[in-house]
Amino acid sequence: MKLKDEINKRRTFGIVSHPDAGKTTLTEKLLLFGGAIQEAGAVKSNKVKKGATSDFMEIERQRGISVATSVLGFEYKDIKINILDTPGHKDFAEDTFRTLTAVDSVIVVIDVAKGVEEQTEKLVEVCRMRNIPMIVFINKLDREGKDAFDLLDEIEQKLNLKVTPLSYPIGMGYDFKGIYNIWEQNVNLFTGDPRKDIEETIEITDLNTPDLDELIGSDAANNLREEVELAQGVYPEFDQKAYKEGHLQPVFFGSALNNFGVRELLDCFVSIAPTPLPKESEERTVQPTEEKFTGFVFKIHANMDPKHRDRLAFVKIVSGKFERNVPYLHVRHNKKLRFSSPNAFFAEKKEIVDVSYPGDIVGLHDTGNFKIGDTLTEGEEINYRGIPSFSPEHFRYINNADPMKSKQLEKGIDQLMDEGVAQLFRLELNNRKIIGTVGALQYEVIQYRLEHEYGAKCTYENLNVHKACWIEPEDEKSEEFKDFKRVKAKFLAKDKRGQLVFLADSQFSLQMTQQKYPSIKFHFTSEF
Ligand code: G4P
Repeated sequence: MKLKDEINKRRTFGIVSHPDAGKTTLTEKLLLFGGAIQEAGAVKSNKVKKGATSDFMEIERQRGISVATSVLGFEYKDIKINILDTPGHKDFAEDTFRTLTAVDSVIVVIDVAKGVEEQTEKLVEVCRMRNIPMIVFINKLDREGKDAFDLLDEIEQKLNLKVTPLSYPIGMGYDFKGIYNIWEQNVNLFTGDPRKDIEETIEITDLNTPDLDELIGSDAANNLREEVELAQGVYPEFDQKAYKEGHLQPVFFGSALNNFGVRELLDCFVSIAPTPLPKESEERTVQPTEEKFTGFVFKIHANMDPKHRDRLAFVKIVSGKFERNVPYLHVRHNKKLRFSSPNAFFAEKKEIVDVSYPGDIVGLHDTGNFKIGDTLTEGEEINYRGIPSFSPEHFRYINNADPMKSKQLEKGIDQLMDEGVAQLFRLELNNRKIIGTVGALQYEVIQYRLEHEYGAKCTYENLNVHKACWIEPEDEKSEEFKDFKRVKAKFLAKDKRGQLVFLADSQFSLQMTQQKYPSIKFHFTSEF
């Protein structure tokens, strides 16, 4: 098959949601449709159970599961689909943000009763900023929830999206009868109670047909007619271009648990979702159809087996053909590396692959060469953009608790930071190390892993920091910048790349500082 045909066959996406909205259940149902798994319950939830902060086994369990579910590949209707896992727990949000740099589209799952929740808001904001095409799936229609119009309105308001329903529920909760599929123009009905299976799919090209009254009763039929008419009046018609550019989000309704509305979602997804997209690098835009291979590391899993110090670097292929045993340029190190056993990912297993194409993810065994964001090419020196660090929300000093093991500690911290578990800053004043994380749980993870994988012990000390901001002066030689560095010396640190960071101790002091030094820019991500 030609490269172009391989590319057209692929869809790589992520499912984002607030925990408990039904991401795992939906993933599982998608895999069942693809024949990739045989029974429900096969996909493990990557959720962190309650109280996990003090339960180290839980941390390991979580890590094990996130390796297993990092990439779930399956085929449906001759399309090769890769689902990239995105942890819903907010302490792992940064991992999710990075994974979003490797997807070509997303499906957003929303609980019909809870509506738009906090994590959904944050994740959708990142997708919106990047114009990632999104489809919304409103889940748990078998339960009483919010009115469909109210929900669509809430999604537009809170998530700042422009939606158009492509399916519409017939009733809800106890009265949930089925779905009118606007996209395919048919009606799918449940078999009474328990609402387990789809009774039949009935073509209804005209909602005014009396057949509809017979099928679902006159009241429900009239209700549906009214609501669909209203929806079509209020919401724009679906437009694939607007969807692909991230300006219009189609909405589906269903119940993942009951496997209802999922096939409609999947059928529409394979027909409208984008094939692997071009990607910006520092130097130029790279098209997937370019013959030469390029790719970037968006995730690293390390030391699953403490006896073998091996890590698995997840590489998204952006262009060309990736082949086993061919030497590729590791651009940051300027050295050639070859991979004898690259992994491809299927539903629950990984296998060695000889060739992979744009949209695919390969897992490369690594002994410490890779860092998140690294680029691999056939020789061209390009660097892919778009794996930013976000300003952490928690900050603590990290101290060595065993002076005999300081080397191990250094190495451990270094490698965990490369993996993206947290961010390391060094205070300019005294070189003390500060660990910044998105969630408090990471401190437990780091302490545990340093001890178990590197034989090093650490303690933490609280540090009052509100936000870390990356500093960009208009003119490094200006008096203003010199004054800033002198006055704020106590609050300045360097990140791992040597970029200057200001550690503001409160929102107020940050505002005051911004006002006092107008020629300095304060950024909340490392990408500017
Ligand atoms: P997550 O990955 O987004 O965190 O959510 P997950 O799929 O684990 O689903 C969270 C809970 O919601 C699960 O129940 C799941 O069974 C339930 N659920 C998912 N889809 C539907 C649906 O369409 N209707 C209804 N009524 N429930 C749904 P749980 O009790 O937390 O877990 P479990 O013991 O059932 O696995």
